[in-house]
Amino acid sequence: YTITAGPQPTGATIPKSMYGVFFEDINYAADGGLYAELVRNRSFEFNGTDAAGWNGLTGWTVAGPAAVTNDDQRLNERNRNYLTVSGAATLTNAGFPSPSTGSAIAVKKGDRYVFSVWARAQATLTIEMHTADGAALSAPLTIATRTDTWSKYTGTLTATATSDAARLSVKTSGAVKLDEISLFPRDTYKGRANGLRKDLAQKVADLKPGFVRFPGGCLVNTGSMYAYDAANNYPRARSYQWKDTVGPVETRATNKNFWGYNQTYGLGYYEYFQFSEDIGAMPLPVLPALVTGCGQNRATVDEALLQRHIQDALDLIEYANGPVTSTWGKLRAQSGHPKPFGMTTIAVGNEENLPNEYWANFLKFESAIKAKYPDITVVSNSGPDDTGATFDNLWAKNREHGSDMVDEHYYNSPSWFLQNNARYDSYDRNGPKVFLGEYASLDNKLFNSLAEAAYMTGLERNADVVKMASYAPLLAHVDNVQWKPDMIWFDNDESWGSTSYQVQKLFMNNVGDRVVPTSVSGAVVQPKPITGAIGLSTWRTAAVYDDVKVTRPDGTVLYSDDFTDGNADGWTAVQPRGTWTVTNGGYAQTTTDTEDTMVKAATIGESDYDYTLKATKTA
Ligand code: AHR
Repeated sequence: YTITAGPQPTGATIPKSMYGVFFEDINYAADGGLYAELVRNRSFEFNGTDAAGWNGLTGWTVAGPAAVTNDDQRLNERNRNYLTVSGAATLTNAGFPSPSTGSAIAVKKGDRYVFSVWARAQATLTIEMHTADGAALSAPLTIATRTDTWSKYTGTLTATATSDAARLSVKTSGAVKLDEISLFPRDTYKGRANGLRKDLAQKVADLKPGFVRFPGGCLVNTGSMYAYDAANNYPRARSYQWKDTVGPVETRATNKNFWGYNQTYGLGYYEYFQFSEDIGAMPLPVLPALVTGCGQNRATVDEALLQRHIQDALDLIEYANGPVTSTWGKLRAQSGHPKPFGMTTIAVGNEENLPNEYWANFLKFESAIKAKYPDITVVSNSGPDDTGATFDNLWAKNREHGSDMVDEHYYNSPSWFLQNNARYDSYDRNGPKVFLGEYASLDNKLFNSLAEAAYMTGLERNADVVKMASYAPLLAHVDNVQWKPDMIWFDNDESWGSTSYQVQKLFMNNVGDRVVPTSVSGAVVQPKPITGAIGLSTWRTAAVYDDVKVTRPDGTVLYSDDFTDGNADGWTAVQPRGTWTVTNGGYAQTTTDTEDTMVKAATIGESDYDYTLKATKTA
């Protein structure tokens, strides 16, 4: 067949920021990933109320008299635990967990590593990098701590050999109090202190993304109805809030994140803005709307809490763009960036599936932002996925209201992407613009990335409506996966891009100026649909499924289930109304449902297709 391009460009102008990245701290993307800190649980804040088996010494082995302490001698109110060593002791940290290879720190011969610690009392600390067997990987560094007030001490270790199985040890000569024990490669991306792992940051930079959407995702909104623990000045188990993530790192309280592991917030809003600037991308923060999707489905009823979050949104704009004389602009300047970051766009919410509650909150955020900052683009949301009542309901509200832009998400099969290339051809040209904030074809095989590439031509053809698009998720540690497929994979010393990474790189490095009309003549083979009510998305799909059937392109049945006996046919869980847990991709999500529900995730697959099914059947 023949593809004819032209005549001269008459189609939409394609914005340079059309393709970007979506960074979420999922799959150890930040702590243990992009954030270059090598010590796990550096501030002894892991807590048993966050996860079974966690405690202040998680990640550490201690030989000698030492105990985690939480009293009024603490480093500060947000870094509450510290280690009291009452005699000669050796503390050893093995870095971030990596079940297949064992927890370990990667070091490279000749590279330098910056050690730092906060200490009080007089003692001598001897710091060393070594193998699990104790063979030295650096000359020892000696630090004499001097006073009985908290002070920061730093020094440099040089690796004498390469190892992906190193440990960091701190030996104390006697009694001393320690906190915030840290080890960073000296060579971070762009040489920034508290910086980013160079190979991962470079892979993202090589994409040449037009924007960075951050910090989530489900990470953002879940738990946002929890009130701030004012009595303890502590944010445990609450949503991602930008004010928790700025200022000196030792004053950033740690928190268990939505994906089940501890986040230090060491990679926080300042670092996200700085990284976006470093790679020439527009920063695009997502704020919690105090209505949680992602399987939780609750909305805050606390108006004061909502108003505080709205004020936080205004303060964030001042932090990013305000003069150094403003309250929040001053904090940005103190962190090292007096020049404004020039943020233009902000998103409110992520995948809320309580459309009325979300909409009420969104309008309050939007009107407060527009009243003070009329030029800021406020991105609204379309709910959890591209089907069903929530999506339609929220899109209708957004159209009627005239929202600036609406965030859509979908994860689907390669054939879905091939069949839906024309999705945006029929979108209202005068309605809200589309931000495709998350999408992926559900595997990391070549065929998936080809389907994504084909789909992206449809996004580009509709560049007058679709203004931005980002594949998701961006990063995954091979041994700590909560979600796949992913664009870039890594372990503690190596990283590699998937074929989807190559597709994204191709499009981002070659953004066109204008759409050139094309026409196709000759026999074009259209992919045949995979039919059936398949819950290809995830636990968050609330639709009712019955008679699930998946057929191959030739019409033969690949999988079917009629659910006749309610709990048979290989479906293992019947969940009555109430609170229930669904497991997907290695993490468990608890939710409350008002209807009896049958749920099971099953994987069926052959050759290039792997479908993860979820069926929900109301009683
Ligand atoms: O990208 C992974 C997850 O998918 C995001 O956290 C969420 O927004 C979506 O459900």
